[in-house]
Amino acid sequence: MGRDELASEISKVTWYHTIPLGYGIVTPGVDDTPSRLAKIGLPHDLTGKTVLDVGAWDGFFSFEAERRGAARVVATDSYCWGGEGWGTKDGFELARRVLGSAVEDREVDVLDMSPETVGVFDVVLFLGVLYHLKDPMTALERVFSVTGGRLIMSTMVDMTWRRRPALSFYPGSEANQDPTNWWGPNPAAVVAMLRSAGFSRVRIVDAYAPFRNRFMRSLRGRVGRGEPFLARLWQGAIVCHAWR
Ligand SMILES: C[S@@+](CC[C@H](N)C(=O)[O-])C[C@H]1O[C@@H](n2cnc3c(N)ncnc32)[C@H](O)[C@@H]1O
Repeated sequence: MGRDELASEISKVTWYHTIPLGYGIVTPGVDDTPSRLAKIGLPHDLTGKTVLDVGAWDGFFSFEAERRGAARVVATDSYCWGGEGWGTKDGFELARRVLGSAVEDREVDVLDMSPETVGVFDVVLFLGVLYHLKDPMTALERVFSVTGGRLIMSTMVDMTWRRRPALSFYPGSEANQDPTNWWGPNPAAVVAMLRSAGFSRVRIVDAYAPFRNRFMRSLRGRVGRGEPFLARLWQGAIVCHAWR
């Protein structure tokens, strides 16, 4: 595919991820995905490993796992790939074609995942999905059932000041103006939920919204959109690794 054709194909897609696809062209996603990659602690060498990417969307992390040597990568998604979200599967398919990737795809809901339906994987990526699920505890049990080694999970968090496990419930669009955000667990709850799902060891590897960033973001939200300052101040995001 030449440069002009690639640019034209890319322009037809509503992108979430920013993926370099050659000729110096990067997909115009709303997400600064490379900066998140630096924070999730994805092993640099995945040679011979099997990797499952749950809620893969445009597939940035699946393609990166393949690039790092994984023997098999399976990307799954349900909401966006099924046409319910504001994105589609078009970006994943275009990127896979352009990258000459062998990443496999499965359209499956988290709640339908099991060793029988998708298999068991050395490394499971569960990035930015937990808080979109109405039943997060069952989802974590499903994710545990397909994790043979290590889970890498990122999630939005709330009430970060609380030491005891607690979850904020968002019945409307109060979390980032997104009605598909249901839950904001605090970090203690994330750890406790992963252990309750069956993981033997859990480590928080990154809390990537430090206080000063949250303060500025909350100020902008208050001035620009009339959001409640304190509620936004205690929201952030963390990355956990958990071992079976
Ligand atoms: C915020 S995006 C995160 C995408 C990617 N994992 C990342 O971190 O950049 C959430 C993804 O979860 C997917 N998703 C939401 N509910 C799902 C469900 N019940 N089963 C599978 N995927 C789901 C959405 O379609 C979307 O692709």
